[in-house]
Amino acid sequence: ATHMGKDLEKVLYTEEQIQDRLAELGQDIWRDYEGKDLLLVGVLKGAVLVMADLMRTLPGSAPMDWMAVSSYGSGTKSSGVVRILKDLDTDITDKHVLIVEDIIDSGLTLSWIRANLESRSPASVEICTLLRKPDAAKVHIDCKYVGFDIPNEFVVGYGLDFAEQYRNLRDVGTLAPHVYS
Ligand code: PRP
Ligand code: MN
Ligand code: MG
Repeated sequence: ATHMGKDLEKVLYTEEQIQDRLAELGQDIWRDYEGKDLLLVGVLKGAVLVMADLMRTLPGSAPMDWMAVSSYGSGTKSSGVVRILKDLDTDITDKHVLIVEDIIDSGLTLSWIRANLESRSPASVEICTLLRKPDAAKVHIDCKYVGFDIPNEFVVGYGLDFAEQYRNLRDVGTLAPHVYS
């Protein structure tokens, strides 16, 4: 383990800014899903922290479930070809599914997951993401709840990793160049 603070170049969003924004999104979500059979679906592993904090902003009960997917293909970045490593435990027929994500980068992962879930006859499928990179989009994704739009820079923290590290950083920020070398 190393001291993460020194590895960050700049903080984009502090823990407090993230929590404030999640509280706003939680209010919108609770209002929009009033009286509906809501299921929160997180995408492992990046969405773990968003899920934990977002669901605790809700004033009433809402169940969660998880998917784990792996993108395969030649490159290190997502190819859009996705394989399910862990499927939902829940039958989502007639349920109002809200996918919870940490970030939409190219959009390829979520675009595939959304189509896959829509094929299971849910009542609805919407997306909530803490971060979105508009300049990195390769496909258009209709995302109902967005925390922050960010520049096309590599960010870590609050669930987001660099080689599995830094997910436990409380803020979101960019890495200092010395970390890469
Ligand atoms: C990251 C991130 C999103 C996805 C976004 O997950 O958490 O799930 O990439 O990329 P895209 O919009 O270009 O498809 P990753 O595959 O790194 O797995 P992780 O959540 O376990 O870190
Ligand atoms: Mn992810
Ligand atoms: Mg990752």
